[in-house]
Amino acid sequence: MTKKINHIGMAVKSLDASVPFYRDVMGMVFEGAEEVAEQKVKVAFLAVGESRIELLEPTAPDSPVARFLEKNGEGIHHVAYEVEDVETTLAQFKAKGIRLIDEVPRSGAHGTRIAFLHPKATGGVLTELCQTPKR
Ligand code: CO
Repeated sequence: MTKKINHIGMAVKSLDASVPFYRDVMGMVFEGAEEVAEQKVKVAFLAVGESRIELLEPTAPDSPVARFLEKNGEGIHHVAYEVEDVETTLAQFKAKGIRLIDEVPRSGAHGTRIAFLHPKATGGVLTELCQTPKR
């Protein structure tokens, strides 16, 4: 079961060029940036209420986000829904015949466990399931 929108991912060419708009114009709280080596991206999170914007800058030409930028330019890349347990949710979705990109969860930013559903199964919207660490 999905609980809420955890974040919306935006593909950008440069975090340095994009963060000031969200932080200084939109007044969102910059929560930090980190590299997710597995996905060849640098990500920055900006908080707005309970949700976040995740800005994704590719770190290599063969990064999935670099390919996205080539095809579509900058813009909305994915929507991430928070779930209690990403493994259980994946199994439930799989049982319902939903096509997955990730059969097993991988590590996301800030200690999250994430998995992507295939856009063909979600009306063309790349969809992430996101389990936040227990506090
Ligand atoms: Co994300």
